[in-house]
Amino acid sequence: MTAILVLHGPNLNLLGKREPGVYGTTTLAELDAAISVHAASRGVRVECRQSNHEGALIDAIQGAAGQGFAAIVINPGALTHYSYALRDALTAVALPAVEVHLSNVHGREPFRHRSVTAGACRGQIAGFGVHSYTLGLDAALACLARG
Ligand code: DQA
Repeated sequence: MTAILVLHGPNLNLLGKREPGVYGTTTLAELDAAISVHAASRGVRVECRQSNHEGALIDAIQGAAGQGFAAIVINPGALTHYSYALRDALTAVALPAVEVHLSNVHGREPFRHRSVTAGACRGQIAGFGVHSYTLGLDAALACLARG
């Protein structure tokens, strides 16, 4: 069965209570459950991990292929806007990756308009809340289907 790795970056463990006007009231556990339900409906397996640490996310990206994952869906949080190390990790591995954001980063503060990581991904989905992840999962599957 195809397996997809879902990575949540810094501060996403606070979902539900963190700026609910921006990020909604869904908790990370509820988000992960919704992603798993969607994955099951597509006949694929997901593993969702969250870390507040750049290095842990890089280790997860580097290890993904060896652990049997076929693609990555990643919300790098604020690392999106400045982490060249995360970008390099995404570039270094052969797996297709899709960047997702709960909020529409392009309609927010100017520093959020730039993603240094999206260029190392097949594309970016932003602004659809929980659905950004399910759309991201479908985008990753489309990447795998077309190679
Ligand atoms: C975010 C957007 C980022 O700018 C922010 O730093 C986050 C969450 C989102 O999902 O909308 O932590 O990635």
